[in-house]
Amino acid sequence: MSRTRTAILISGRGSNMMALLAAAAADPAYPAAFVLVVSNRADAAGLAHAAAQGIPTAIVESRGRSREAFEAELQAVLAAQRVELVALAGFMRVLTAPFVTRWQGRMVNIHPALLPAFKGLDTHARALAAGVAEHGCTVHLVSPGVDEGPILAQAAVPVLPGDTESSLAARVLAEEHRLYPAALARLAATLAPTLAGDHGAA
Ligand code: GRF
Repeated sequence: MSRTRTAILISGRGSNMMALLAAAAADPAYPAAFVLVVSNRADAAGLAHAAAQGIPTAIVESRGRSREAFEAELQAVLAAQRVELVALAGFMRVLTAPFVTRWQGRMVNIHPALLPAFKGLDTHARALAAGVAEHGCTVHLVSPGVDEGPILAQAAVPVLPGDTESSLAARVLAEEHRLYPAALARLAATLAPTLAGDHGAA
């Protein structure tokens, strides 16, 4: 079976990245092969975790650079590894429309809310402030609008009496770690036949 060559982009602790790597390590038939982890920050804790798993890592620094310069280097790094699919996992840099369009249908994100509710940052605090009964997470294809794009999968959790931002975040994060590997597997399996012998955006 051909496995879709996939890069994970992170900016921080990388717990979703770890969930993806663990899913692939546990299942020889997992349809994505994680060939690269890229961080836009040198101090991302997730980099060391990826390296410890034997996954090649790269730092493409975003601070102090134009979006175009950053994305040109990012594209070169992805192309060098013949990456076919990109998974954003706590990647905190907004990507330009041309970059997103280049990866259309082959770049996914996980967002800690039930989109279209609570796009953007501080989703757990905003969900509590809004008094919603349910919160959760969404895996979606990336499109030029931030936290927009076709929804691939969602998981809901209840908001419980006495919840704090951190208790709610932990409940959602546990669902993220289940949802993302499953949703990415479905997409990678769909892409594999069309990508065989054609390394896409490289
Ligand atoms: C997650 O909640 C993810 O949904 C959001 O940023 C957080 C990243 O956490 N986009 P981690 O780095 O995967 O632990």
